[in-house]
Amino acid sequence: MFSILVLHGPNLNLLGLREPGIYGSLTLDNINGLLEQEAEALKVKVSIIQSNHEGVLVDTIHLAGGQHQGILINAGAYTHTSVAIRDAIAGVNIPTVEVHLSNIYRREEFRHHSFIAPVAVGQISGFGPQSYILGLKAIVNYLQKSSN
Ligand code: DQA
Repeated sequence: MFSILVLHGPNLNLLGLREPGIYGSLTLDNINGLLEQEAEALKVKVSIIQSNHEGVLVDTIHLAGGQHQGILINAGAYTHTSVAIRDAIAGVNIPTVEVHLSNIYRREEFRHHSFIAPVAVGQISGFGPQSYILGLKAIVNYLQKSSN
């Protein structure tokens, strides 16, 4: 059974309260519940972690080696700033899918660049909580195809 590490970055713990016009009304717990349901349907395991701290996210990615076969990450604002998270993903060499609730390309220019995208299998952006579900399906599909 594939094990997928789901990483939520900074401020995503505020979902539901935070700019609901952009991020919607679901809380992070609600989204995690949807991910767990989908994981059951896909017959994979998910381990879900949220942190507001770049170093914790880096450490968690390092620890994923040997434990998880895929990573699903919404790095939040670190998407646009963090060479360290990008290098951690490249360093552990675990297939990673990047997701965003909002369509980062329809927003401010500073959100248009992702440091994660060049080291990810792909990116899903703009579908609200469904971005996570689509991202989980995408990483599982990718892993199933590569294990055949
Ligand atoms: C986000 C988009 C980022 O630009 C922002 O900083 C976030 C959330 C999203 O899911 O749409 O915190 O990653």
